[in-house]
Amino acid sequence: MASPLFDALDLGPLSLPHRVAMAPLTRNRAAEGNVPAEMNATYYRQRADAALLISEATQVAPKGQGYPRTPGIHSDAQVDGWKKVTDAVHDAGGRIFLQLWHVGRISHSVYHDGEKPVAPSAITPEGQVLTPDLEMVPFETPRALETEEVPEVVEQYRHGAENARRAGFDGVEIHGANGYLIDQFLRSGTNQRTDRYGGSLDNRLRFLREVTAAVTDVWGPERVGLRLSPLSPFNDMEDDTPGATFHWAASTADDFGLAYVHLVEPSAPKPPVAGDGKAADVFDGIRETFDGALVANGNYDTATATDAIERGYADLVAFGRAFLANPDLPRRLKEGLPINVPDEDTFYNGDEHGYTDYPTWEELQNGVSFDTLDALSELKARG
Ligand code: PHB
Repeated sequence: MASPLFDALDLGPLSLPHRVAMAPLTRNRAAEGNVPAEMNATYYRQRADAALLISEATQVAPKGQGYPRTPGIHSDAQVDGWKKVTDAVHDAGGRIFLQLWHVGRISHSVYHDGEKPVAPSAITPEGQVLTPDLEMVPFETPRALETEEVPEVVEQYRHGAENARRAGFDGVEIHGANGYLIDQFLRSGTNQRTDRYGGSLDNRLRFLREVTAAVTDVWGPERVGLRLSPLSPFNDMEDDTPGATFHWAASTADDFGLAYVHLVEPSAPKPPVAGDGKAADVFDGIRETFDGALVANGNYDTATATDAIERGYADLVAFGRAFLANPDLPRRLKEGLPINVPDEDTFYNGDEHGYTDYPTWEELQNGVSFDTLDALSELKARG
């Protein structure tokens, strides 16, 4: 029987030809000024067969950066650079959302002319940050935002959303996951504020609500998604009551009528509703709370993605590593073809190598060589 992974889907005003989306992937290859350039346009155009491309995380303001060469969406030059990307994707028949990002405390003063990173509370993350010179140094203690500064940061998201429109995107995804600024407000481990942005769960949700209001003002809710990572400890995150926190985060997305919620899930079981109690409770709860489309992400293959859709859990499945290494991933999955093995050494930073030189299946048939071809038939598509 044909997999529902290849059935069409209406997502707000967009008609998606199938359910294989590309997950946002940081690649650290923007040009000077954190401006996307031709090489980046080529990379996204090559992957335009995705049901939906979600761009790499893109900072809405200089203070939102915490990694080398991540693109921004705050300057005119960046808007012009992204326009090259969206034109290339649209010429190839694709659809692309921009992911709006602010890293909060996951940064370093070296990115901010000596000023400390900002966060909900002055809590130092465990771990290290990569400087622009590609050195690993310990995180610093961030500066807690003053109450009256928070609306200014909300306006930075609005500005990013407006610029994304000018740059020709089809919509935007609010990055509320992976321990970055919105997630730092949401989860109790990083939010010890005593003003209206902290304390009660309702207060911890306020920043997300205000950002969502600003972004949907610009785009309309049917072109806005929200990414969440309810159980992920990445970037030193924790929460006392993840079931309640993310039930209410999903409920916020539902109140605004967002097009989709995009979930970063534990790697197993797939889908998370299938097994372990804690994950099943949290993810089932989100599915029940949110009426829009659900984008599942994390370690799926064709069989588990099909199962997630058949169960009515997911509407779309986003693939990261597999899409990075296989520009024609939807075709490979649909036809059950072997897939190229991703090269971890070229995930971050660098040039075209490991970025725009992964061959399509057709190129492989036409004699293009690929150094990890041997392993092709052994690897399943991993999200
Ligand atoms: C990263 O650059 O490591 C990164 C960025 C955005 C994410 C996750 C990881 O959501």
